[in-house]
Amino acid sequence: MKLLICAILAYLIGSFPTAYIVGKVFFHKNIFEYGSGNVGTTNAYRVLGKVAGTVVLIIDILKGTLGALMPVFFGLDRHLILFVGICAVVGHCYSIFLKFRGGKAVATSAGILLAYNPLLFVICFIVLATIVYITSMVSVASLTTILFFTIATLFLHDWILTTVAIIITVIIYVRHIPNIKRLLKGQENLVPVGLRYKK
Ligand code: G3P
Repeated sequence: MKLLICAILAYLIGSFPTAYIVGKVFFHKNIFEYGSGNVGTTNAYRVLGKVAGTVVLIIDILKGTLGALMPVFFGLDRHLILFVGICAVVGHCYSIFLKFRGGKAVATSAGILLAYNPLLFVICFIVLATIVYITSMVSVASLTTILFFTIATLFLHDWILTTVAIIITVIIYVRHIPNIKRLLKGQENLVPVGLRYKK
C-alpha cells in the first residue's frame, strides 16, 4: 500500500508541467507552439531564454529527485528509489496536467540519479555538457549520455540500477524518435550554445 502511494505521488510530482507553466505565466507563450514544441529544458532554453531554461532544468531534475525519494520518506527499501523514480519520469513524459503529453525524460531521469548516486550524476552531467558544447544539439548529448550511463552501471555491479537504466534508455529513445528522424535528415534543431551554433 505504501509503495502504491509512493508511486502515485511520484507520478503526480513528475507530472508538474514546469516548462509549460514558466512559458505561460512569465512569457505568455504556449511552449507547445514554439521551437521543437517540446515541454522540456532544451526547448525552454531555446524559446524562453537562458534563465527560464535553467529554472526549468533545476525544477525538472528536482521532480525526479523528490519523486524518487518517496520510498525513503515512507521508510521503504532504498532500491525502491529507482523504481518509484520511473513513475516520476512517466509523469514528466505523460503528464496528467497536459492531457498525457509531456517532455522527453532526460532531466527528470537525471533527478533519480541525483537521489541514488550523486557522483554518477555529476559525471553524467559533465559528459552531457561536453557533448552539448561540441555538437550544440541536446538530443545528441541526451541519447549518447544515457547509453554512457547504462554502460557505466555495468561496472558498479548494481543490477537493479542497470535494469532501471535500460528501462529509462528505452523511454528516452522512444521520446526522442522525432529528434532521431531529424538527425538522420540532418535537420536537428540547435541550441544557442557551443561550437556549432553561429549567431
Ligand atoms: O531533453 C530533450 C532534448 O534531448 C531534446 O529537446 O527540444 O531539441 O527536442 P528538443
